Amino acid sequence: MKSFTLYNPTKLVFGAGSASKISELVPSKARVLLVYGGGSVKKNGSYDQTIKALGKRKVVEFSGIEPNPEYETCLKAVEVIKKNKLDFIIALGGGSVIDACKFIASATLFKGKNPWSILTSYGTNIKEALPIGTVLTIPATGSEMNPNSVISRRATVEKLAFASDLVFPQFSILDPTFTLTLPERQISNGVVDAFVHVMEQYCTMPADAPIQDRFAESILSTLIEEGPKALKNKDDFAVRANIMFAATMALNKLICVGVPEDWSTHGIGHEITAVYGLDHAQTLAIVLPKILKYKSSQKGEKIVQLGKRVFGINEKSKKVAIEKTIDAIVKFFKKMKMKTELSQYGIGKDAPEKIADNFAKNNTAIGEHHDIMRDDIVKILSL
Ligand code: NZQ
Ligand code: ZN
Repeated sequence: MKSFTLYNPTKLVFGAGSASKISELVPSKARVLLVYGGGSVKKNGSYDQTIKALGKRKVVEFSGIEPNPEYETCLKAVEVIKKNKLDFIIALGGGSVIDACKFIASATLFKGKNPWSILTSYGTNIKEALPIGTVLTIPATGSEMNPNSVISRRATVEKLAFASDLVFPQFSILDPTFTLTLPERQISNGVVDAFVHVMEQYCTMPADAPIQDRFAESILSTLIEEGPKALKNKDDFAVRANIMFAATMALNKLICVGVPEDWSTHGIGHEITAVYGLDHAQTLAIVLPKILKYKSSQKGEKIVQLGKRVFGINEKSKKVAIEKTIDAIVKFFKKMKMKTELSQYGIGKDAPEKIADNFAKNNTAIGEHHDIMRDDIVKILSL
């Protein structure tokens, strides 16, 4: 295991009715920007409960954050904050709204000329940020308890990520009740995204890190057990609660400590969304099995361990164990009603080249060995 620092300052408040705690968590004199997306928050109770808990504080609303949040929209929110002299941001929604708020919080206090450089410098030029609290409505990204954000810029066909300890949410409200209104597509997206987050931190090479491995395997097993139940019994609170906690723990800086990380599925997935507009998790379900196949010699030991411990695959032949484990993952994605091929979205044969070219605009090499480059991406997507 490598040396590490474990840091996570986000206070999680979990359970039915937990939004009432906002009244204690936000300073009484705070001037709040309340940010949300296209309106789902008005149907699941999260908006009403948040407004109630904010009481007499000054609140200005900013709605219309898109899935895959748009840079230009975020800049409009920055103007609203400056105009109204606001000093606290509440993100009400999923990863897109939370990520947008992390960018807005940084861009508002950014002294440089070009706020897009926050993305191109991966967040290293962030010196200060407004405080953020979140009310989560879709378990998926882990953004509610991590320092990451992903912002899209449609005009330049870019989707880039940044991270900074300054944008960890101060608190996050996790009330599974709010997730009961999710449409099937977003239930599937959330479970698959969380599953792939664990895989990016787990499925590399052995690192003599049994705690991290078993944390990771417990999250994967939980998602495999609970995910399909959420699609079947749409009003099962207990199932949603388990998925919500699993998704947060999947990407909150815990299971990655001391071990190598991959993130090539996400790197390629973000390019697919930038070029073709697919949902984030839809891209991951296409890319992950192909990466595992392409990199099966380097990842073999961990794939076999995953097969044995999570899917109960016990094969003498390493080759067969790897094949069966990758098949089991594809089967799970299908059970979650996910497509696993670009062609199933009507995307043509020229896609691998286009996606790889878009990747090469901002990146050179990805993967735990930094050896997946432009031409590898073409090969991976053509598998
Ligand atoms: O806009 P509204 O009307 O709110 O509808 C949203 C949106 O259309 C809807 N929704 C959310 N909660 C709902 C609901 N509908 C009914 N009931 C509810 N309770 O769901 C749609 C998708 O929302 P979005 O926030 O886009 O989903 P998700 O949480 O999957 O976020 C995806 C974004 O996060 C980024 C992705 O790239 C993508 O941009 N990621 C962020 C990460 C991070 N910050 O750590 C890591 C991830 O790997 C990912 O890259
Ligand atoms: Zn993801």
